[in-house]
Amino acid sequence: MRAITYHEHGGPDVLELTEVPTPEPSGKEVLVRVRAAGVNPFDFKVRAGAIPGLPSKFPSTPGSEIAGVVEAAGPDAEFAVGEEVFGWSSTGGYAEYALGWKLARKPEGLSWADAVAIPIPGEAATRALGLLDLKAGETLLVHGGSGNVGGFAVQLAASRGVTVVGTSAPGDEQIVADRGGIGVAFGDGLVERVRAVAPHVDAVLDAAGHGAVDVSLELLAAPIRLVSLVDPKAAEVGGIFTTTGSPNPAELIGEIADLVATGKMRMLPAREFPLAQAAQAQAAGEAGTGVGKIVLVP
Ligand SMILES: NC(=O)c1ccc[n+]([C@@H]2O[C@H](COP(=O)([O-])OP(=O)(O)OC[C@H]3O[C@@H](n4cnc5c(N)ncnc54)[C@H](OP(=O)(O)O)[C@@H]3O)[C@@H](O)[C@H]2O)c1
Repeated sequence: MRAITYHEHGGPDVLELTEVPTPEPSGKEVLVRVRAAGVNPFDFKVRAGAIPGLPSKFPSTPGSEIAGVVEAAGPDAEFAVGEEVFGWSSTGGYAEYALGWKLARKPEGLSWADAVAIPIPGEAATRALGLLDLKAGETLLVHGGSGNVGGFAVQLAASRGVTVVGTSAPGDEQIVADRGGIGVAFGDGLVERVRAVAPHVDAVLDAAGHGAVDVSLELLAAPIRLVSLVDPKAAEVGGIFTTTGSPNPAELIGEIADLVATGKMRMLPAREFPLAQAAQAQAAGEAGTGVGKIVLVP
């Protein structure tokens, strides 16, 4: 099968389209014919060597998120051949076929691109909000409110009666507003812009990095209610830095998919690239310009 592989850490140009053996499912595993693969900031960080110990071996195929059709199933699998599924991959999503785990059934009517945009950001947003334990009437600041994680975080919190202020690049504030939040531009003067729309901030979710922890400390009173998905410094200042932890991720992404499929949750149009252009897709994500999930289509 065709798959993107890389043999060393480096820039996007280390990614190559190669022929590799198709994995075989055993036990509970299923082999998925990939219809869409998610491209995540995590993928660039691993490729660049920014996460010690990852990838665990070379050559490596990037990509944790897949959506596609079950092609073959191990003897104990919960899914049958032909079912449409989405979730995580254990062998790398940037490929024609991938072994799936933590999968959910894709609702009818949900596009492949929307389905594959849910697992990592949807799980992370839900986990972070759970750690913040927000109540209706409280005010939450989401750094990265225009991003993929931010998209779920803003909508989930707003739907629970929380007032949400979300940061974005200048000009992207309407994206946050369309998600039910109040959009403010990141950059110099952010603290004042937040105070102008929200005199009191109860809690902060950092889904952006770029110094968001320091900004948050100026806005929060003690004890600090700050969760960062990006910056370990959050834990050093009394908040939480989280990287994993939802007990039932497959169930959780299934619930989010139902909200999207029934129009109760909005997603931005995906930015689709052919599999062979994985390097361009990652470069586009790293550039940080543009919004919407980056998706590879084999
Ligand atoms: N720890 C975990 O478990 C976990 C899980 C998922 C994601 N993450 C991390 O969470 C982060 C967000 O992921 P994502 O998929 O949502 O990425 P994304 O879609 O690219 O969103 C990035 C967000 O950051 C904003 N941003 C860009 N440059 C910025 C700057 N200089 N200052 C402040 N904000 C800036 C973007 O604004 P514009 O779009 O308006 O430019 C956007 O809102 C990534 O670092 C990712 O690795 C962690």
